[in-house]
Amino acid sequence: MDQAFGEDRTATARAHSNIALIKYWGKRDAELNIPAVGSISLTLDALSTDTRVTFREGLKQDEFWLAETRADATRVSHLLDIVRDSTGLGSRAMVESTNNFPTAAGLASSASGFAALAVAASAAAGLALDQRDLSILARRGSGSAARSLFGGVVELHAGNRPDGRDSFAEPVLAPEAWPLTVVIAITELDQKSVNSTTGMGESARTSPFYPAWVDTGEDDLAAMRLAIANRNFEQLGQLAEYSCLKLHGLMMSTRPALVYWNAGTMAAMRAVLELRASGIPVYFTIDAGPQVKALCLPEHARTVADALSRVVGVHETRISALGRGAQLLS
Ligand code: DP6
Repeated sequence: MDQAFGEDRTATARAHSNIALIKYWGKRDAELNIPAVGSISLTLDALSTDTRVTFREGLKQDEFWLAETRADATRVSHLLDIVRDSTGLGSRAMVESTNNFPTAAGLASSASGFAALAVAASAAAGLALDQRDLSILARRGSGSAARSLFGGVVELHAGNRPDGRDSFAEPVLAPEAWPLTVVIAITELDQKSVNSTTGMGESARTSPFYPAWVDTGEDDLAAMRLAIANRNFEQLGQLAEYSCLKLHGLMMSTRPALVYWNAGTMAAMRAVLELRASGIPVYFTIDAGPQVKALCLPEHARTVADALSRVVGVHETRISALGRGAQLLS
């Protein structure tokens, strides 16, 4: 390395993706990325992102490489700017990310990506943040990423302070405390069309259902907290399906409509309902995309995965246990 340049400052972190049981959609502050409603999620062991951040003197601009392909660095730079502002560090950074799942499988999630980025960037910059502040930093990158700081079952608070200091995530249950399982049914291999940030802005602006969505968010969270405290899987599943369908009702009532489902999505939902009618406790949930996640207990995971694999329109299935929180690898 050229003597004129200082030492690289580098760190690598891993974070797992998560799936919300009670969904986040809408912001009370777009600039600070503060959610309008709280959310509760499961961290997924099967899907993770490793990210290395290297602050390097002399680099002209931030570079973002996803699986060795150069990608748009705008959102990554936004989070790096927050880290640079808090540390006085001037250097641009090289950010190299890899997912342990094919990016083309439409599973690429901003949650694991921004959680790994927050942990790696702050460590590389020498910014010592506790878990709460790391979750706030990750939230600035993407709301759902705040939850991926923690393992197991996690809640992200909407808070009410204008500066967002009370909008952070915290663990509700450790991964070992309740062995929930998620079967992921992939119904589309391409990336989704409308990203969450844009979609939720449009829902807030145009859907007549949006005020009701925000007003009833706290009730859904309270009911889910109770189901979790009582380890009541049926309650958890019913509430998760309810929050999912309520979210998709809100999306469909947005102008122009946000229809994320395809025929395979609908067929997989039906298959989950049929499995349930046959006596297997399993419930579905779906984010801003066409993939279906089936929630079940470990003893039923194989049956659920086999049934979903046979659904026309389902390309592949993956079984995930609950994962750990984000961690620094080096
Ligand atoms: C439907 O966290 O991707 O998955 O904060 O704008 O980056 P931004 O949004 P993002 O939205 C996630 C929406 C959701 C529900 C959820 O994960 O809670």
